[in-house]
Amino acid sequence: MFGFGQLIEILKKSPKKIVFTEGKDPRILEASSRLLASYFLHPILVGNEDEILEAAEESGFNIRGAEIIDPDKFDRMDEMIDLFCELRKSKGVTPEQAKKMLAQGNYFGTMLVKMGLADALLGGATYSTADTVRPALQLIKTKPGNSIVSSCFILVRPSATGENEVLAMADCAINIRPTEDELVEIAGEAAACAKIFGIDPKLAFLSYSTFGSGAGEDVDRMRNAAQKAKKQYPDLPIEGEIQFDAAVSLNVARTKCPDSEVAGHANTFIFPDISSGNIGYKIAQRLGHFDAYGPILLGLNAPINDLSRGCNASEVYSMAIITAALA
Ligand SMILES: CC(C)(COP(=O)(O)OP(=O)(O)OC[C@H]1O[C@@H](n2cnc3c(N)ncnc32)[C@H](O)[C@@H]1OP(=O)(O)O)[C@@H](O)C(=O)NCCC(=O)NCCS
Repeated sequence: MFGFGQLIEILKKSPKKIVFTEGKDPRILEASSRLLASYFLHPILVGNEDEILEAAEESGFNIRGAEIIDPDKFDRMDEMIDLFCELRKSKGVTPEQAKKMLAQGNYFGTMLVKMGLADALLGGATYSTADTVRPALQLIKTKPGNSIVSSCFILVRPSATGENEVLAMADCAINIRPTEDELVEIAGEAAACAKIFGIDPKLAFLSYSTFGSGAGEDVDRMRNAAQKAKKQYPDLPIEGEIQFDAAVSLNVARTKCPDSEVAGHANTFIFPDISSGNIGYKIAQRLGHFDAYGPILLGLNAPINDLSRGCNASEVYSMAIITAALA
């Protein structure tokens, strides 16, 4: 069963540094003050020091002990520009262009991770998902063996018995319409992430069709992807193509696919595209009363995550712990 206590224990054994790209945002300051009070995760705030300290004082958060790094005064900026140009040399990026990009917190913060000055990054309190993720895609890149970066959400619903209900959903935030092979990769990454959060993954490749009840290009894509995933991950229970009701309801599963070991028990959902995934996790969150953690980026060569612009300080705190624990 997932609990933040386990992630905090991981961090206590090996404390980490996390960069916040929007250092003067009050939600970041509140989360940082909570982190500073507990010693397992050290915040690095990107931005102008005077502005950050003023914002902290105005909002009443004690950020004493936080590291503040101002891109305008960073003493290793020349080294950072050289590395940036090297990393983007296939795109012909000049030092002047690099300098301009590194004046932005999202690019600067990503380079702090690349240079090993921080272990993890959390951004997106004010930047869009694309603006948080793009520097990571361009500079951090996919980890060896992966062809794409994708994402998953972990959904947690506390129950009256004290047993949290925990689900994983992917890819709800990055890839617009994954190919069959990309869906297979997303499934493998989502299953691995689900395990970290205490889920014993049973994967459903979702569709508007169950075992050929409907027809169409997207049905074929999900069916073929499920078949490929079964071959690639023989130890994982995988079903597809399958409708959501058959995936989660034993009653429906008995009618539509009685022989499936996953149907009725699925807990890790692979969506056909970003629209269905993004809408799906938000329905679970808003109508199903699940807490949603994510998007957790998968397949990236360093732990970098994106916040929703509507996030609150408590979500920043939780996502910071998740991000750093994955490091
Ligand atoms: C992720 C995303 C931002 C990338 O868009 P983009 O920056 O326009 O993508 P580009 O095609 O210009 O690619 C930029 C770089 O990222 C790489 N890239 C793009 N998508 C990638 C992926 N899924 N995995 C790995 N690398 C990727 C490209 O190869 C390219 O690298 P290069 O510059 O070294 O050649 C885009 O897919 C997106 O906007 N997704 C939806 C985000 C969103 O709105 N989510 C909903 C809210 S949660």
